[in-house]
Amino acid sequence: MHNVAITGTGVFTPSETITNDELVASFNAYADLYNAENAAQIAAGELEAKPQSSADFIFAASGIERRYVLNKSGVLDPTRMFPKLAQRDDETPGYMAEIGVDACKKALDSAGLDASQIDLVICAASNMERAYPAIAVEIQALLGANGFAFDMNVACSSATFGIQTASDMIKSGSIGRAIVVNPEICSAHLEWRDRDCHFIFGDVATATILERDEDLIAPHFKVKSTRCATQFSNNIRNNNGYLRRTHDATVDRRDMQFMQNGRKVFKEVLPLVSKHIADHMEAEGVQASDLKRLWLHQANKSMNDYIGKRVLGRDPEGGEQPNILQDYANTSSAGSIIAFAQNSADLNKGDTGLICAFGAGYSVGSVIVEKG
Ligand code: COA
Repeated sequence: MHNVAITGTGVFTPSETITNDELVASFNAYADLYNAENAAQIAAGELEAKPQSSADFIFAASGIERRYVLNKSGVLDPTRMFPKLAQRDDETPGYMAEIGVDACKKALDSAGLDASQIDLVICAASNMERAYPAIAVEIQALLGANGFAFDMNVACSSATFGIQTASDMIKSGSIGRAIVVNPEICSAHLEWRDRDCHFIFGDVATATILERDEDLIAPHFKVKSTRCATQFSNNIRNNNGYLRRTHDATVDRRDMQFMQNGRKVFKEVLPLVSKHIADHMEAEGVQASDLKRLWLHQANKSMNDYIGKRVLGRDPEGGEQPNILQDYANTSSAGSIIAFAQNSADLNKGDTGLICAFGAGYSVGSVIVEKG
């Protein structure tokens, strides 16, 4: 059995941002258009008028201030409300591969590695641009990595499930080094015309390098233990699969985009995650007082504040449980890895921390790390 360490991380951040004010102005223009176009039916009580969104509500309910997106103009066009990401020909790298490769190159640089030293690429994300060939195999080819590659989807928990998968392969000796890459183009499976969720997501890609913890000189994080769990729920769901006729414009798109029962998610996921983390820590003999940092999934600020308090037994102090969702919004599986990548360099040798992601499935994955 080999020991495993995280030796590098990379984050691709799109160049375009949408503030809450910009988002709300476009949503409200869309709602006005909809209400004017359907005035007669609304007056007859056959259709409900679209209510206005509010930037104050969005910040209070979620803690989100802005989000990065691959295409802003399409999202904000009140007559479109969907990113303009034109179909690419087969010879051009796909969107997920393009942003994933950028994150991987940054992660390789931070680990001081060349792509040829990688034996496994896992593309772990909440939605795939196509079914096959696997996005991971395209990323492997674009990078010039060796070995093999495959895609996996466990929604917002994908990165942690990918880290456990890669870590177990390194432990057993079947591979020496892996990249787990999380290209999340959430803007393309968010329904921007739905006031209840139009503010939730943003786009980003993250990458994490894992390798044998042998003769490592540069700072790294020892992977002390990983734990994954799932429990079926329809409360976060997307029906856009290969059985749907997505090319037929007459098919209503709503259930093919992100759908959630946010209140139920709140109620059901919080106890699930708190217990998962508590059980994982107990099994590994990690006390709350041992934890120097918590890098949580970034869906909602009050959710994270609640989990941080449950895990530490007190309110997290500044920097102990870093949030990045005010700038990035929910970036699905990438959120906890952005928090980790941007808020871990200052830890000291021997410090313990915990990465935890959770979401649709339901699913929850946690990784206990120690600075080496
Ligand atoms: N602007 C203004 N008002 C809005 C609004 C908007 N954009 N969206 C909803 N509202 C209204 C609702 O209609 C509701 O009005 P009502 O009280 O008259 O019925 C009110 O605000 C409260 O809405 P609700 O959906 O109950 O808010 P909430 O406090 O539960 O917050 C979420 C909504 C989505 C932010 C919250 O439920 C959440 O974060 N849930 C977990 C989400 C999550 O982690 N999902 C995982 C995704 S991977």
